[in-house]
Amino acid sequence: MKRPTLFSPLAAGLLELQHRVVMAPLTRMRASQPGNVPNLLNAEHYRQRATPGGLIIAEATQVSETGQGYPAAPGIHSDAQVEGWRAVTRAVHERGGLIALQLVHSGRISHSSLQPGGGLPAAPSAVVAAGNAFTRDWERASFEVPRALETGEIPAIVSSFRSAARNAIRAGFDGVELHGANGYLIEQFLQSRTNKRADQYGGSIANRMRFLVEAAQAVAEEIGAGRVGVRLSPFGIANDTGEDDPVPLYTRAVEALSELGLAYMHLIEPRASGTGAADISRPEMPSACALLRPHWRGKIISAGGYDLRTAQEAISAGNADAIAFGRLFIANPDLVERLRAGAPLNAWDRSTFYGGTAAGYTDYPAYKIVA
Ligand SMILES: Cc1cc2nc3c(=O)[nH]c(=O)nc-3n(C[C@H](O)[C@H](O)[C@H](O)COP(=O)(O)O)c2cc1C
Repeated sequence: MKRPTLFSPLAAGLLELQHRVVMAPLTRMRASQPGNVPNLLNAEHYRQRATPGGLIIAEATQVSETGQGYPAAPGIHSDAQVEGWRAVTRAVHERGGLIALQLVHSGRISHSSLQPGGGLPAAPSAVVAAGNAFTRDWERASFEVPRALETGEIPAIVSSFRSAARNAIRAGFDGVELHGANGYLIEQFLQSRTNKRADQYGGSIANRMRFLVEAAQAVAEEIGAGRVGVRLSPFGIANDTGEDDPVPLYTRAVEALSELGLAYMHLIEPRASGTGAADISRPEMPSACALLRPHWRGKIISAGGYDLRTAQEAISAGNADAIAFGRLFIANPDLVERLRAGAPLNAWDRSTFYGGTAAGYTDYPAYKIVA
């Protein structure tokens, strides 16, 4: 059988991709206020990056008011947000593209100024993250000690993922991705440093992965498993995370999710920082894809520090089925065409990653062939 390339088609659940260059979820904090509503500038950003049969995974989007982690991060829990997203999905579909929405609850990676009524962010346990939150006024403030969730509150959070998925489909998305990576609520449940619970959601691996599995089941039941992906960062260190012994935990979690028949598993490779917060590289770490591939029945998207050569290698070696690009997609609206042509790439400007307007968002130039 001929080996696939980055430009071979791929069926991932119900998602029919015409090539394997995926746009990674990228938080840009540019939703309209009040209400964290996606707007026409956001639609233009995604429109520029859409290609026929190309999958875009839209930025982490809170499933509820309490799930918000950053100022001007969009939500998918109000009608206005659903309307706003509709313009985004329409723009991508008009170019023949596919778009999934990443669903997040930020848990402790939030700040009371972003919470309804100014309450403390809630998390599996009252364990504070090292580092700084973004406040509602875009200031940096130390993370607060979160409030530990009562057992009885957890089903409502699972339900908020379910209703967010339903809203995403109403807004025209082709699917959703559960954000189980980079230190947000799902990962806070998974990892022992952030989960000190004594109930059925803490302690053993089976208990720590319960929230993830329940959320994935609920979402799959709501919109169909073939439209659902999950993102994990087994070796990640973003947002003060890191499991001492990640292999048993993530092997079990991936095996349990594999039973659900989801569209894809999206794994962040440890050699890049999970959030792209700095250009750090950890080449000594093992490959998450290679390690977890045997435990997953479906398709795998791999992300983290890829360029054209390493992406092609990962696909042809069979370690991954598709490659997600983050920072290169920020800087190159026409990344897919550039990779196809082997054209040079624009460099990204970190100063315009978060917040602001069109600068560094919709004004990166497309490649022009000089005759
Ligand atoms: C500005 C910025 C925002 C990001 N936002 C998200 C996000 O919303 N959800 C997520 O899972 N990862 C997020 N990431 C991580 C990227 O999806 C990706 O995993 C990371 O940048 C590594 O890939 P790269 O080397 O191709 O950039 C973000 C990264 C950057 C640079």
